[in-house]
Amino acid sequence: MKIIGISSGLSYTGYTANLIRVALQTAANQGALVEEIFIPDYEVRICKGCCSCLAKGKCGINDDLELLRQKLSQADGIIIGSQAFGGEPDPAMQNFLNRIGFYNQYTGFLADKYILTIATTETFDAVRAAKKLAYLTSSYFKDGYVSGVLGFNVSWERIEHYPEYLGKIESLTIKLVNDLQRKRRFQLRGCWRRLGNRLFRVPEVKKLILAHRNGKMEAVYRELRSKGWLGEPVYDPTGTKANITATARS
Ligand SMILES: Cc1cc2nc3c(=O)[nH]c(=O)nc-3n(C[C@H](O)[C@H](O)[C@H](O)COP(=O)(O)O)c2cc1C
Repeated sequence: MKIIGISSGLSYTGYTANLIRVALQTAANQGALVEEIFIPDYEVRICKGCCSCLAKGKCGINDDLELLRQKLSQADGIIIGSQAFGGEPDPAMQNFLNRIGFYNQYTGFLADKYILTIATTETFDAVRAAKKLAYLTSSYFKDGYVSGVLGFNVSWERIEHYPEYLGKIESLTIKLVNDLQRKRRFQLRGCWRRLGNRLFRVPEVKKLILAHRNGKMEAVYRELRSKGWLGEPVYDPTGTKANITATARS
């Protein structure tokens, strides 16, 4: 079992990265293979909107994103942490979520992962930021499994006065490991959002993908076909399916 801890924050020795390390140490004690990634140590430039990921399955920017994407796709569990800026993940994390999330939104390449999210602030709104981190693994077709969402509304200097916070990290990390081992499904979590996706977004997204399966959404099409998530084509702008039927009849 491989668990990756990803964090951002002002420094590698900062509050957030330290908490992620507590979680990774706990996961390692449970027998998991762990790896730590501190986003600001990597070159992750701003998305330029070329959509090469959708067409070619590879980002058009030559930086560290592909490496990070590979690491994530090889993990079973992800523990992700960010400091909160006004209730949002911080800029480095937002940028990373944008870069990874766009491709994942269509392909769901992270939708089989278990995730624990952690956000830190000095006062409030850490949970709001932590909830946003959980979107890393969601896609139109399927969502990842959210084992826990943790917000720390207390400064690093005062954390020693809140031993229950560190206890929560440890217990939720153990829960993540257990959820993974038992392949726990969370049938009710996010069920309204998933229903909305299934009824309204997925049919439209399928049309879009099928319309561009030989061009600007080729990589997405291939990935979803290999997963069997496209099902029966709901719309075929090339008329290929209709032509095959007509040929068979004539
Ligand atoms: C630009 C900026 C905005 C921040 N916004 C908030 C905030 O809205 N609420 C809050 O409680 N803390 C805020 N903070 C404090 C950080 O969230 C907090 O110190 C964080 O836990 C530090 O994490 P780090 O040591 O991993 O960088 C902000 C810090 C910075 C630098």
